[in-house]
Amino acid sequence: MKRIYLDNAATTPLDPVVLEEMLPLMREQFGNPSSIHGHGRVVRSAIEKARKKVAELLNTSPSEIFFTSGGTEADNTAIRNTVLSKGIRHIITSPLEHHAVLHTAEHLEKEGLAKVSLVELDSKGYVDYAHLEELLKTNEPSLISLMHGNNEIGNLLDLDRVGQLATEYKALFHSDTVQTMGHYKHDLQQLKTNFIVGAAHKFHGPKGVGFLYMQAGTKIPPFIHGGAQERNMRGGTENVYGIVGLAKALEIAYAEMAEHQQHIQGLKTHMMDRLKEAIPEIGFNGDPETSEQSLYTVLNVSFPPTADSEMLLFNLDIEGISASGGSACSSGSDVGSHVLRALKADPSRPSARFSFSKYTTKEEIDTVVDKLAVIMGVEKVS
Ligand SMILES: Cc1ncc(COP(=O)(O)O)c(C=O)c1O
Repeated sequence: MKRIYLDNAATTPLDPVVLEEMLPLMREQFGNPSSIHGHGRVVRSAIEKARKKVAELLNTSPSEIFFTSGGTEADNTAIRNTVLSKGIRHIITSPLEHHAVLHTAEHLEKEGLAKVSLVELDSKGYVDYAHLEELLKTNEPSLISLMHGNNEIGNLLDLDRVGQLATEYKALFHSDTVQTMGHYKHDLQQLKTNFIVGAAHKFHGPKGVGFLYMQAGTKIPPFIHGGAQERNMRGGTENVYGIVGLAKALEIAYAEMAEHQQHIQGLKTHMMDRLKEAIPEIGFNGDPETSEQSLYTVLNVSFPPTADSEMLLFNLDIEGISASGGSACSSGSDVGSHVLRALKADPSRPSARFSFSKYTTKEEIDTVVDKLAVIMGVEKVS
């Protein structure tokens, strides 16, 4: 049985072209980039070329790009060290953030270093911009941390609007852009963000490597202390092949973006249409029917109450389909989804997240919908 992979928000398969780019760094170019001899210099130059490429794609300067071990470290660095070094006493975030952000903010609050305010959401899970402004009006030195694309339900944030509010109220603005990096263009000359982040494995690059964009003028101290790597911003020998792979993956993502967006949005719309036809009382978490404000790679489906989410995902797995999700419930070992709970989703309705990539096909979507109809105990629609 050929398995079907619909969990691309968790991670994506490596593009073979990216692998080719990485291989020489694993084979012959093995020097330590901090070494000043020839073996080291070749590798140093590969890292700096990668940094230049990432900066070029994001329309910014290489001096503002810092490579990290992934999205989590980049988020931790931006939030924690902004609070520690910029006199920030107030973090404004949302209950829908990834735990890389939420747990960092909670931890800082527990340590007594900052107060955390959660912005209110509307019924579809969008940030209430009026409430965000209310929170900013307290005039405390604040850091806004709001994600660009939600990894569970796909809602998109209006980065420009939040950036304008941040400027108006002199707040710093960090956005977790892990799910949108490589899927939308981020023009850092236009965006009013102080920090954004990327993780290569979400756009067909390798795992364990990411980056932090830190706007010039908002310099913070390092999160990981050690050697002078990353211009004293992150100690530790660089993940050289990861960095080179990240830059190549982002280059491909940018070159093919329009084509992939069209293909993947088509699959998402097709899946929604087929599900509505095949399964009565099907629903969607978030706002996927408004494609303008919904990440095209993610579809979170709310099923009529039958089995729980874990059983649904288990049954899909048995059928050779990899998807993920969680319900709004929090009983037993299933801690459920904090995102669906924050949205007050009906805990009796199982949910599953299907997420797509450039490699996903229409035939795979059709197979998945047919299998879902059988799992849900309804007649298969041909
Ligand atoms: C929105 C978001 N932020 C942060 C992360 C963490 O990224 P990484 O796995 O590279 O640490 C993820 C990964 O799932 C994510 O979806």
